[in-house]
Amino acid sequence: MSKRRIYYFDNNATTQVAPEVVEAMLPFLTNSWGNASSAYSFGKEVSKHVKEARHQTAALINADPKEIVFTSCGTESNNSAIHSALALHPQKKHVITTAVEHSANINYGEFLRKHGYEVTFLPVDPDGSLDLHLLDQAIRPDTAIVSIMWANNETGIVFPIEEIAALCRGKGVLFHTDAVQVPGKLPIDVKALDVDFLSLSAHKLHAPKGIGLLYIRHRTRYQPYIIGGHQEHGRRGGTENVAGIVAFGRAAELAMSKLNEENTRVRALRDRLETAILKGVPHTVRSGAKEPRLPNTTNIAFDGIEAEAILLMLDQAGICVSSGSACTTGSLDPSHVLTAMGIPAMRARGCVRFSLGIYNTAEEVDHLIATLPPVIAKLRASSPEHSPPPPHARAAHPTKR
Ligand SMILES: Cc1ncc(COP(=O)(O)O)c(C=O)c1O
Repeated sequence: MSKRRIYYFDNNATTQVAPEVVEAMLPFLTNSWGNASSAYSFGKEVSKHVKEARHQTAALINADPKEIVFTSCGTESNNSAIHSALALHPQKKHVITTAVEHSANINYGEFLRKHGYEVTFLPVDPDGSLDLHLLDQAIRPDTAIVSIMWANNETGIVFPIEEIAALCRGKGVLFHTDAVQVPGKLPIDVKALDVDFLSLSAHKLHAPKGIGLLYIRHRTRYQPYIIGGHQEHGRRGGTENVAGIVAFGRAAELAMSKLNEENTRVRALRDRLETAILKGVPHTVRSGAKEPRLPNTTNIAFDGIEAEAILLMLDQAGICVSSGSACTTGSLDPSHVLTAMGIPAMRARGCVRFSLGIYNTAEEVDHLIATLPPVIAKLRASSPEHSPPPPHARAAHPTKR
């Protein structure tokens, strides 16, 4: 691994594992490596820590610990919720989601379509918001589940999840929300929300990859997705990832304690970065509304340049940012999220996501603010064919500064 300094602005893709989290999980990779489901005390000792982590993660979302099922990732949690609804209601063949979900939902929806289900991908407005009347109209007697993300990983746009949950409850349809981008950034209270299912993924909150959870409301029936042993009270087969679970528990505590910092210091850094780019770099436009938005995320179009070229040049300076989601990297198509917002392909290809986190400093943001303008100027100078679109094309674009 290179020792050069890294300036990390891609916290929506993954986060640095917190030292406190590493410390908490290490014993379960060294001395306490027993199987949490074993009957002898070497295993039972380990299971106590799994129980503690269940309480810690439940506290993060104000759930009952019994309502937590540990999974391998956010993708598994999303797939599991939708699968359960369909498996338990075989007469219901319709699923509702949105056109701006993570590929965990988009591609699962496409898979379901190929297997005889109807999937509605609700459109969004140019500012990234959802029209709840369209959701209302889309719900049918054969709708098995509505699955809508809480906060968008590419733009940070936050959907009114409380209203959506109430609408679904009123119509008697199951509701799942992908809250993977939310913990540590917005408070989560599943009791107040009254959702049936909610997904989280530990690597977005300073724990390692490979551990997630699905909250299942205690009155909601559930059909396991991974069928095997009796782990997780028979709701998810497979030997428990003890180190990951313990890490998740500690990270959940940290996320709660950092909520205020995300919403003050990190938000201020994000706003400073965004303003500096929009004011200091010509032909730049924010993708989507200013609010309601996650406090750490901004997505900005650099007209006339391919985001991939910006990424490569920033990478040479040790700066990590992304175009779209890490799960779609390598795809030549413009982001499906930006496309769904009506952003023309040419502009969408020039969009860069900056996602900050608790480890970012003002000095790092200053470095990015200083590095970016010459990079953009150089790229624009070297690709005259990629000159910015004429003013009328920009005016026609629906996003606001
Ligand atoms: C909104 C959202 N949902 C789901 C996922 C998938 O989570 P995981 O990587 O744990 O499968 C991600 C990860 O980027 C995400 O941002």
